[in-house]
Amino acid sequence: MPSRAPLTDSFGRIHTNLRMSVTDRCNIRCFYCMPEENVEFKPRHEILTFEELTRFARISAEMGIEKLRLTGGEPLVRNNLCDLISALSQIDGIRDIALTTNAVLLEDQARRLKEAGLQRLNISLDTLNDDTFFRLSRRRGIDKVLRGIAAAQEANFQKIRLNAIAIRGLTETEIIPLARFALEHSLELRFIEFMPLDADDNWGAKAVLTGDEIRTILEEEFGELMTSERSDPSQPALDFHFKHGGGKVGFINPVSEPFCSDCNRLRITAEGKVRNCLFSTEEWDARELMRTGKSDEQIEALLRDCVQHKKLSHGIDSPEFQKPERAMYQIGG
Ligand code: 5AD
Ligand code: SF4
Repeated sequence: MPSRAPLTDSFGRIHTNLRMSVTDRCNIRCFYCMPEENVEFKPRHEILTFEELTRFARISAEMGIEKLRLTGGEPLVRNNLCDLISALSQIDGIRDIALTTNAVLLEDQARRLKEAGLQRLNISLDTLNDDTFFRLSRRRGIDKVLRGIAAAQEANFQKIRLNAIAIRGLTETEIIPLARFALEHSLELRFIEFMPLDADDNWGAKAVLTGDEIRTILEEEFGELMTSERSDPSQPALDFHFKHGGGKVGFINPVSEPFCSDCNRLRITAEGKVRNCLFSTEEWDARELMRTGKSDEQIEALLRDCVQHKKLSHGIDSPEFQKPERAMYQIGG
């Protein structure tokens, strides 16, 4: 039982899920996230230490956070990440630790991550084609990614999921090869609609390839997709399985079908700013409190204030929508 009251917002949503960015750095440059050149990374001393991240997670767990996800930038570029995972896995109340990665560095780290207590992996895989990978991430490396996926499968994680971006003019040709790859490797595949979080400000509603469109393309090739039972309503994906044979495919449709009403997620950026939404324009500075000797109760108060200010929805489709100042790599996704 959590020792502090739950993190309930003004709409009654209880927050049990915390996404922690461990770095804003990345070893590739996906155009839907980062600028191509002159990326300004935070200096080392501005990034939360493992002790600070662990303290923050512990206080959050005392308020009912049960699930953690480590994000970046690319989390695997942070040195000794396994030490952080070991520390987090010892926190009372944390029953699930997951990681989102581009898998470029996964081959070497997969086994150690599993041993440290990491349970689940989300691997970003937008294409299997070397040139397309280069076009979208401005780096070579699909071979490393594929070896990373193989190593993760050998390490026996509880769950490995593949996440693919859904962008019009890019994703259409990748859908069938990605689905075949996922089927052959018994991996779950999810498509995520392109969101207005790219550093270069190229997002437009027309650039979003919707989950519905992708579903139609899949059904033409593989036959009917059947709705899978939803075990957790706060889980944003709409999941399906193929009628003919195994394999699961899901759609995260934040733009065409917002799922804010069931959101239970909070975020902390690599430099310790707490956010109540990917699209928040406001942030709460937990690092400042931790570095000026403030008590757990003061950090609890900050978290409550942040959650209290959570809006009902992101409002991407509203004319008043304001794109957040931070891009995806600076938030953590
Ligand atoms: N829209 C949707 N998803 C994004 N990601 C990064 N930028 C965006 C964006 N603008 C996703 C990547 C990766 C994860 C880290 O975040 O596809 O899977
Ligand atoms: Fe790096 Fe992930 Fe952003 Fe791609 S989406 S540039 S892998 S942080």
